[in-house]
Parts: sequence; C-alpha cells; structure tokens
Amino acid sequence: MSRGSDDTPVVPGKVSLAEQFARVHEHWRPRVVAELNGQAVKLVKFRGEFIWHHHDHEDELFLVVTGSFRMEFRDRSVVLGAGEFLVVPRGVEHRPVADEEVSVLLFEPTATRNTGNVDHPTLTAPALDQL
Ligand code: NI
Repeated sequence: MSRGSDDTPVVPGKVSLAEQFARVHEHWRPRVVAELNGQAVKLVKFRGEFIWHHHDHEDELFLVVTGSFRMEFRDRSVVLGAGEFLVVPRGVEHRPVADEEVSVLLFEPTATRNTGNVDHPTLTAPALDQL
C-alpha cells in the first residue's frame, strides 16, 4: 500500500472490473490491478486451451466475472460460470479451457507465474505486469 507525504496510507481508488477488463486485449496474460498482503488481484481473459501445469508453492483462486470456462484436472473437470470461483491447491495439475472468451479474476501471490512449473515460449507471462 503506498503512503502519503505524512506517512499516512493512501486509500486507493475503487476499481471497475468492466473498465479494467475493457483494457485487456490479449488472452492468457494476467494483469495486476491491486496488491495486498503479498498477494495480487489479477485480471485475465481466457480463450481456447491453456497448457497443463501446476504451482509448487501457491494456491490459485479463479473467479469468473463474465462468461464461463472449464477447469480441467487429470481426473475430472469443473465448469465455472459468472459469479463462481474455484481454488486450485498447490501441486495440483490443472488446465483452463474456454470455448468462448471469459473474463477471470485471479487472487494469488504477486509472483505466481501463470504457467507454473512449465516454461512456455509464448504463454508464460511476465510476473508483474500492471494493467
Ligand atoms: Ni495455474
């Protein structure tokens, strides 16, 4: 949280998800819109199939804002619609698949890499990409 000249915390302005998602034009590239307590609120649009991956040390929260997508696990899949969220625990392999574009809010540590343990030439996004 940033601080003013007299060291009092500066209350950030409110965030419109609709306005911020309107600025997101790439798929699979999370953008940071807020940080708190070492975690970040990230906005991302999915379309198509992502890659299988896991995160050794981080749990990830996926909250659908508009649209829907399917989170695939090795033994099942979960369909998430607008207003629904899912927490993927660390170590669990997962792959998001979106037949149509979906807007998703992520809550996870700021440094979490979108492709987890996998180094992908085009899909791995910069960790600290502010919107
Ligand atoms: Ni992940």
